Amino acid sequence: MGRMRGLARQRPGRYLVAVPSAAVRCGHRLLEGSVVSDMLDEHLEYVSDQARMALFRQAIGRVVKPGDSVVDLGCGSAVLGLMSLKAGARHVDAIDSTSAIDLAKGTLQGAGFAGHAHFHHALTSRVELPREADVIICDHVGYFGFDYGLIELLADARRRFLKPGGAQVPRRLRLFLSAVDSEGCRKETSGWAAPEVPAEFHWVRASALARVHPMQLKAADLIAAPAALADLNLMEDQPDFMSWTATLAIEREGVIDGLLGWFECELAQDVWMTNSPVNAAAIARPQAYLPLSEPMEVNVGDVVQATIMARPADNVVVWQVQRPGDGALLSNSTLNSGFDSAVHRLMSLRPDHVPQLSAPGRARQIVLGYCDGKRTRAEIHEAVARDHPRLMPTPAELSRFINEALAQDASS
Ligand SMILES: C[S@@+](CC[C@H](N)C(=O)[O-])C[C@H]1O[C@@H](n2cnc3c(N)ncnc32)[C@H](O)[C@@H]1O
Repeated sequence: MGRMRGLARQRPGRYLVAVPSAAVRCGHRLLEGSVVSDMLDEHLEYVSDQARMALFRQAIGRVVKPGDSVVDLGCGSAVLGLMSLKAGARHVDAIDSTSAIDLAKGTLQGAGFAGHAHFHHALTSRVELPREADVIICDHVGYFGFDYGLIELLADARRRFLKPGGAQVPRRLRLFLSAVDSEGCRKETSGWAAPEVPAEFHWVRASALARVHPMQLKAADLIAAPAALADLNLMEDQPDFMSWTATLAIEREGVIDGLLGWFECELAQDVWMTNSPVNAAAIARPQAYLPLSEPMEVNVGDVVQATIMARPADNVVVWQVQRPGDGALLSNSTLNSGFDSAVHRLMSLRPDHVPQLSAPGRARQIVLGYCDGKRTRAEIHEAVARDHPRLMPTPAELSRFINEALAQDASS
């Protein structure tokens, strides 16, 4: 199974899938080393996926024109920026929030494009650029297409980075759904309740059932015919909350362990990238497995209604299946997982570590300085915006940041 762990792991505070155990090791050096090698492993997988590389090369060949200015959003190794420069782009702004930015810098500079690229080590939503771009580009396409922040990332970049009439890669997203009867999926979620695990820990399994699991499944794992779920124009803003329903026709007798979601994504006109379990030309990206809290028995000819609800910006996915026969609803949600913060705490508990305030830490310190037990929330917003208008690139981001700081560090 291809890992693609980074699609969820690398995005600060936006975990939809399990954090790999390799990231939680004792000792500062080992931890740092493992984070860098995880990052390198992740990007090695992306640049070795020949189907994905060929599709992006084709899309960039169609979209990027000689002399264009390109923004590579979540650039990772900057492989998409490199393709753009080779296609004739004059300049690339490469943005990544992780140490992958050093990989990007080394790659583009080594390839002779030093004078044609700028590197930004930050979340894209917190970067300001001195020029408008002809093209914005990314591969933020999650296991289920929308579940890695693709929609919000593009919307913000389109608004702040792209010239009017500029081009965007990718441009359209189609979502598909089926039901799964798979031993591999049962194994994936049974770990904490396995017979060899002490019974006191079996309750933890509920957390595994409440997450989106990356799984690389095949047609034989599906118990229902694939159904179209949604068709999103990525060049237009989407609502914060989305709800889609599909009717799943059961094709064989068995149990539904959960749902499987995947995407078809149009990178450029008529250039489609998919991780479909039923398409031989799929890229090496797992699909999104959404486990049910209990298996559901079904027969050939049954019809099952399945609903997916999502608030991508808040990292929430809810899935719901209606049992044929009695009509009972089985549902689950990423809201029920709730263990990622424990992993973060473990990682930061190094006794020899001397903490330094990061840039966001300093910004949070400023915001919290106004939280004096007298000012109201509105007065805090007003005071920060007045005294530190440049703390974040936009008023909207400043407002979000203040809300985050207050939610995290002030009493409710
Ligand atoms: C799926 S990888 C794609 C990397 C590269 N564009 C490619 O096509 O191989 C996504 C990259 O985006 C970065 N990233 C994720 N969310 C980000 C954000 N909001 N702002 C900046 N970088 C982000 C991750 O660190 C990771 O390197």
